[in-house]
Amino acid sequence: MIKVTNLRKKFKDLVVLDGIDIEVNRGEVVAIIGPSGSGKSTLLRCLNLLETPDDGVIQIGEATLNAKSYSRKEAHLLRQQTAMVFQNYNLFKNKTALQNITESLIVTKKMKAAEAKKIGEALLEQVGLASKADSYPITLSGGQQQRIGIARALAVNPHAILLDEPTSALDPELVSEVLQVIKGIAERQTTMVIVTHEMAFAREVADKVIFMADGHIVEQGTPEQLFENTQNARTKRFLQQIG
Ligand SMILES: Nc1ncnc2c1ncn2[C@@H]1O[C@H](COP(=O)(O)OP(=O)(O)OP(=O)(O)O)[C@@H](O)[C@H]1O
Ligand SMILES: [Mg+2]
Repeated sequence: MIKVTNLRKKFKDLVVLDGIDIEVNRGEVVAIIGPSGSGKSTLLRCLNLLETPDDGVIQIGEATLNAKSYSRKEAHLLRQQTAMVFQNYNLFKNKTALQNITESLIVTKKMKAAEAKKIGEALLEQVGLASKADSYPITLSGGQQQRIGIARALAVNPHAILLDEPTSALDPELVSEVLQVIKGIAERQTTMVIVTHEMAFAREVADKVIFMADGHIVEQGTPEQLFENTQNARTKRFLQQIG
């Protein structure tokens, strides 16, 4: 489903991704953990070309892109394979909850408004916000906004969903409602890559956990392997610090 080979990215002289290899199978949930500045967001953003990778090959669903040279068509196809959920929701402020979800269906996928509305309403139901269809983001709580963000990502039926710290901007009491929704999606065999600081969540929901530091994958494995049978000293230190 996702295969990343030798992904490299520099900002000026700063090496942020130093040859990353990742494989994610269909339906798998992969959690990426690691200290601030280790390159987690940059990695996710390279997968949908929000950042331009310098080198490496990215295969997702039907798309293969070689960072050294690719066409606009290949870039477009790669972007279509995933949908992103952002830390700060990034909703359209001048659109209702429902419109936020249906926008890409109508504009990009050229779907009829009535059909898009049906899909949007079903997704609102799935994230527990059926009653908020006509509400504007500013009138919703952070947890509700993020659930709209998740519904919007699901709407385009992507091969994989990329979530970058989806709960870290939320007040503590709103975290669990969003994690609950993500867990529900994971149980429907949606392929997901999630950057998170929620270790208990990663342990419970992820099939695989990747620990990144300084642009490298230091250690990866099942939650049991990574959390209970930690091999690498750097991983151990990180888990102790946040634990
Ligand atoms: N657009 C940019 N221009 C220059 N440097 C950048 C840019 N984006 C990120 N960086 C740098 O790249 C490094 C990795 O950043 P990144 O945001 O990927 O880390 P992260 O692991 O997501 O950290 P955090 O846990 O704080 O979100 C950092 O040193 C950051 O300052
Ligand atoms: Mg980040």
